[in-house]
Amino acid sequence: MVAFNNLNPRPADALLGLMAAFRADERSEKVDLGVGVYRDETGITPVMDSVRAAEIHLANTITTKVYESPRGNQSFTASIEKAVFGSNDGTTRDAFSTAGGCGALTLGMSLIKRASPDNIVYISTPTWPNHPHVIDFCGLKSSAYPYIGTDRKNIDLDGMISVFKNAPSGSAILLQGPCHNPTGVDLSSEEWSAVAEVCVENTLLPFLDIAYHGFAQSLEKDISNIRAFLEKVPNALVSYSCSKNFGLYRERTGCLLLKAENSKSRDAASTHLADITRAINSMPPAHGQAIVATIFEKTELETQWRKELELMRNRMIDMRKRLSSAIHPKSNSFDPSVLNSHNGMFSQLPLSADSISALREDHGIYIPDSGRINIAGLLPEDIERTAALLSDYL
Ligand code: LMR
Repeated sequence: MVAFNNLNPRPADALLGLMAAFRADERSEKVDLGVGVYRDETGITPVMDSVRAAEIHLANTITTKVYESPRGNQSFTASIEKAVFGSNDGTTRDAFSTAGGCGALTLGMSLIKRASPDNIVYISTPTWPNHPHVIDFCGLKSSAYPYIGTDRKNIDLDGMISVFKNAPSGSAILLQGPCHNPTGVDLSSEEWSAVAEVCVENTLLPFLDIAYHGFAQSLEKDISNIRAFLEKVPNALVSYSCSKNFGLYRERTGCLLLKAENSKSRDAASTHLADITRAINSMPPAHGQAIVATIFEKTELETQWRKELELMRNRMIDMRKRLSSAIHPKSNSFDPSVLNSHNGMFSQLPLSADSISALREDHGIYIPDSGRINIAGLLPEDIERTAALLSDYL
């Protein structure tokens, strides 16, 4: 028997397929609203100046390329822990650097699998398609909770809380930090409090996925509700990605943070995280982590990075405003002003599968099947034409 004869081919990943189709499209008027990467007003995903300066500093000063420890660069993990929790705590928390936010999700879900093999992980409907994929890959079951209301503006808090109250005690719930992917609709501070309350009441384990820190309002405002939430729950996992806010997509720079109710369970969990890391990576990748650590270590680089992040955020807010005022839907069912209430890169439009395919085939406008649009993919010169075409299908 040939070793791989029994394998049935898997369907290609839809988003990666869309990226490849966009690259192959030769039409000059094509517009990529698909993959979630930031583009500047010239259509480039730039290397941030602060990142380049950190890389030059590293190239001139680095003395070795020897392995990091399983936890990775500790200056990096301490900075991310502080950015999320507001402080460092060596007794009930731990932090492991990972290959991107996705690596952190996989590490955290693998820990849940070991701690509670039959655990169910609740995910929002809709969510980032890779969430159920990672959960399934780690051998866990997922179940859905409702997320936004029909107005596409507000959270369906009653629906969420009712699912969380009825979830088997000990279940995990995957929540997203600022700039929910794909809706752009985030929980208010009162909604975060209500979710914290049910987590405590029903002993649920919150797993927060933070991939767009600084893309909504500011680094501080984006994290304040999450920090308050984390103070209220005894146990939590947080996956943090530096792909978007540092533009380090290909460096695979992420971190898994763990909060445990006491040092004994923290210590036990840490041994498992080290053990799982050893199997996944042996040691985590170092370059992206070193860049972020350098930026946080050098005040002038951190100041520069914060300014660059603000420019990115403002460009997305500006594109939202311009797109929303240029869309004039044919039907009354979609109010384009909701786009201005959304945070970050994404909004989800009520487009049918036929409309999405016509926009792609006939007009070169690339949108994933979910109807999610990446606002940061829009260039100023694309707004009028894109808005006019979207108006025809909304
Ligand atoms: C996205 O949501 O488009 C990005 O996070 C890219 C990805 O890996 O799906």
